Amino acid sequence: MSESRFPFTSSPKGWFAVALSRELEPGQVLPVKAFEKDLVLFRGEDGKPALLGAYCPHMGAHLGHGGKVVENTIKCPFHAWQFDGTGGCTKIPYSERIPPKAKVRPWSIMERNGMILAWNDIEGGAPEWEVPVIPEIGSDEWTDFEVREWDIRTHSMDMAENQVDVAHFQYLHGTLDYPESEASVDGHIMRVFSKAGMGTKQGAVAGSIESTSYGFGFNTIRFKGIVETLLVTSVTPTDAEHVHVRFCFMVKKSLGAALDKGVGKAFIAEVSRQLEQDIPVWENKAFVHPPMLCEGDGPIPLFRKWLRQFFPAGTFDNINVTAESHNA
Ligand code: FES
Ligand SMILES: [Fe+2]
Repeated sequence: MSESRFPFTSSPKGWFAVALSRELEPGQVLPVKAFEKDLVLFRGEDGKPALLGAYCPHMGAHLGHGGKVVENTIKCPFHAWQFDGTGGCTKIPYSERIPPKAKVRPWSIMERNGMILAWNDIEGGAPEWEVPVIPEIGSDEWTDFEVREWDIRTHSMDMAENQVDVAHFQYLHGTLDYPESEASVDGHIMRVFSKAGMGTKQGAVAGSIESTSYGFGFNTIRFKGIVETLLVTSVTPTDAEHVHVRFCFMVKKSLGAALDKGVGKAFIAEVSRQLEQDIPVWENKAFVHPPMLCEGDGPIPLFRKWLRQFFPAGTFDNINVTAESHNA
C-alpha cells in the first residue's frame, strides 16, 4: 500500500504527551517528533517548559539538535538567535534589528500528572478541554511511575478501540472470562467499566477495570481487586505510520505492595504481555469502516461515534472500506 493505511489524519485532536516531566530538567532541550512534525521541547531556567516548531526561521537549523537554553529562551546552535517560549526571537547577538517575521510556531502545552502534554488540532484550533489532575499521581500513597515504552506501527484509534473490543480479550489475550463491559461517553471522555478483571491463565490480578479516556492521547485504567493498581497510558502519533506509547504503572503502597515484586510485578508483566499480543495485529491490519459486527462484539459502535469529534467535520461521513475492498 503506498498511501497511509488510514484514510484520515494520523493526528486526531487532543492532548498528547511529548515527554515525561522527569525527562526534562530546567535548562534541558529535547528534539521531539509528534503529529508528523519536528518539534523542540525545552525547559527554561524558571522551570517552565515550552514546545516550538523545530526549525529556526533564520536558516533552518533544528533547534533540538545543539540548541541551548539561555535563561528562558532557546539559542539556535547555528548563529545563536534566541527564541522564547512564545516562539518570538528575543535576541540576535550580531544584529541590533530583529526581523519582524523571526518567529517559530509555538504549541499549547500543559504540564500535569508527571507529563508534558501538547494540544494538537490540525485545523489550528485552541485547546477545548483540559486533562484533569489525577489524584494518585504524586500521592504518597502510591508508587512513582514505572514506565514501559513502545513504538508501534498503528493509528491511535486502533489502540483506543481495543478496550471496547470485548471479544478479543478471550481469543487474542487468553483471558479466562468473557469480560462484561459497559461503556459511556461524555463529550471527549469515554469510560469503560469491566467486571472480569484480569483473571488470566497466569493468575488473577484484579476484580474490576475502570478505564477513562480523555480523547486519544491520555487514559487512566484503575484495576481493583487484590491490590489497587493504576495504569496511565499515553499514545502519541509521531509520523504518519507510528505512535509512541508510554505505559506508566503505579500501585497503591498499602500492604507493602511494590512494583518490583509480587502483584505489582505480575501486573506489569501481564499488561505488557497483552499489549505485545496486540502489536502484530495492529501493525498488519487494514482499516475497515463501518466494521462488520455481530452480537457480542461490545460497544464498538459507540466508540466509532465518539471518535468522530477528534477529526475534521465530515471525515467519517463517506468512508466505506471493507475487508473485501482491501482484498480485491
Ligand atoms: S539557523 Fe538558527 S540562527 Fe541561523
Ligand atoms: Fe488487546
